[in-house]
Amino acid sequence: MRSADVRPLAAWVDAQPPWSDLPFIILTHRSDGRQLHQEIPRLSELLGNVTLLERPFHPLTFMSVAKSAHKGRRRQYEARARIEELRESEETLERRVAERTAELKSAHAMAIAEMAQRQAAEDKLRQLQKMEMIGQLTGGVAHDFNNLLMAVIGNLDLLRKRIPPEPKFMRLIDGAMQGAQRGAALTQRLLAFARRQDLKVEPTDLAQLLRGMGDLIERSIGGQIVLKMVVPDTLPRVLVDANQIELAILNLVVNARDAMPGGGDLKIEVDVAEPVEQAEFSTDTYVRLTVEDNGVGMDAETLKKATEPFFSTKELGKGTGLGLSMTHGLARQLGGALRLHSEAGRGTRAELWLPATEMSVAEHAVAPQAAAPKTESKITILIVDDDALISMSTALMVEDLGHEVLEVNSGNQALDILRNERRVDLLITDFSMPKMNGEQLARAAKEIQPDLPVLLATGYAELPEGTDSSLPRIGKPFLQEQLAAAIAEVLATRPGA
Ligand SMILES: Nc1ncnc2c1ncn2[C@@H]1O[C@H](COP(=O)(O)OP(=O)(O)OP(=O)(O)O)[C@@H](O)[C@H]1O
Ligand SMILES: [Mg+2]
Repeated sequence: MRSADVRPLAAWVDAQPPWSDLPFIILTHRSDGRQLHQEIPRLSELLGNVTLLERPFHPLTFMSVAKSAHKGRRRQYEARARIEELRESEETLERRVAERTAELKSAHAMAIAEMAQRQAAEDKLRQLQKMEMIGQLTGGVAHDFNNLLMAVIGNLDLLRKRIPPEPKFMRLIDGAMQGAQRGAALTQRLLAFARRQDLKVEPTDLAQLLRGMGDLIERSIGGQIVLKMVVPDTLPRVLVDANQIELAILNLVVNARDAMPGGGDLKIEVDVAEPVEQAEFSTDTYVRLTVEDNGVGMDAETLKKATEPFFSTKELGKGTGLGLSMTHGLARQLGGALRLHSEAGRGTRAELWLPATEMSVAEHAVAPQAAAPKTESKITILIVDDDALISMSTALMVEDLGHEVLEVNSGNQALDILRNERRVDLLITDFSMPKMNGEQLARAAKEIQPDLPVLLATGYAELPEGTDSSLPRIGKPFLQEQLAAAIAEVLATRPGA
């Protein structure tokens, strides 16, 4: 090595991995003496693990030096193996940690998605419960209001006949009457929302109904809106109250018009559809009426609230906010649904789903009603209403018609009168009364006096399932002439009349 360039070798030694320290055995010669003194420290420095062996040496010496160098090297290899093992296990660990982290992440994402789903379901349920509660509340208030209006309208009706026919007085009474009638119309809409409307349900051809409304719709939307109607020639009939459905359609049309102040396209379409979400629906086939506009649309918040009663974004005096709520209530009462799709700036699609029926008009028709003859003779009428204000106003109307009146405020009082053999020709009773309702009273009364005609006065469709719906009914509030006609009709269809 004396004359050799040791730099490449030194570079290799430097570049050894941490576990490696290659042993060198350098053979020297005694005659190298002086130079050796200078060379040895330099070589040791450069090569590190150096053993010097001076010649001549005994072969055994050489063997033992070589052996121990080799042993040292083997140890280094063992160290290398251990280090590698360690690294591998570290890698596995890291991989495991990474895998586990990924698993946790996906589980977390799933949990979050599930939570969001549950939240959405809960929101929907809460919204439904809220609407249900508002419905009950509104229904209750509307019912009481209807009764009060009954008293107002009834008494005004009588008053009009009794005061001197001076135009000044008549105007006052007419004003009061108009106000009361408007109130009655409002309570009707509230009752519609509360699904407690008294509906006259008949198999109806929606296509025919829509064609009949063409003019009315054209007139309501004005000249700037282009109307397109897609109505098939034949459609299954739907079991609905045609008047109420017309009102609902008109409401949707007016909403669309208001959403397109600068004009736009209005499309009204009727088709047959099978519901996708079964839960809400009970029948397989529905007739779907779609009213679609490309007006201002609604954002998510407005859309959510649109069917709530009194929710309106229209300026004061323009909208009562009852249009969609009554349409929604009507659809539900008829076994269908109102579906709204809308996006701000994109327009709105309102769908009215109504269950199709196979009934033909003839099947549903009830026996033609006899023309109401005037009741000439004086009869005795028993009037029952738990609200004294109502029973009194009805009694006054009946008295004014020239009949004799017995007026009581409960079913039991009415039965007492009948049991005491008072001759009664007609029973007019309210339906919803505490303890004994009108229908129960009618049944009990007929046990005492089997041929007794009964007229049921109802403010709304409060008659629960299974009620004897064949009883003649009159809707509150009513005018005297309506009551007179109803009385005449009941008496005319009485057995043996
Ligand atoms: N086609 C539509 N485009 C945009 N927004 C609509 C549409 N229909 C309804 N809305 C929104 O829903 C609200 C409630 O409608 P709804 O018909 O119940 O009440 P209204 O039209 O405000 O008043 P009312 O119908 O009692 O006169 C509206 O005020 C409006 O904000
Ligand atoms: Mg409206």
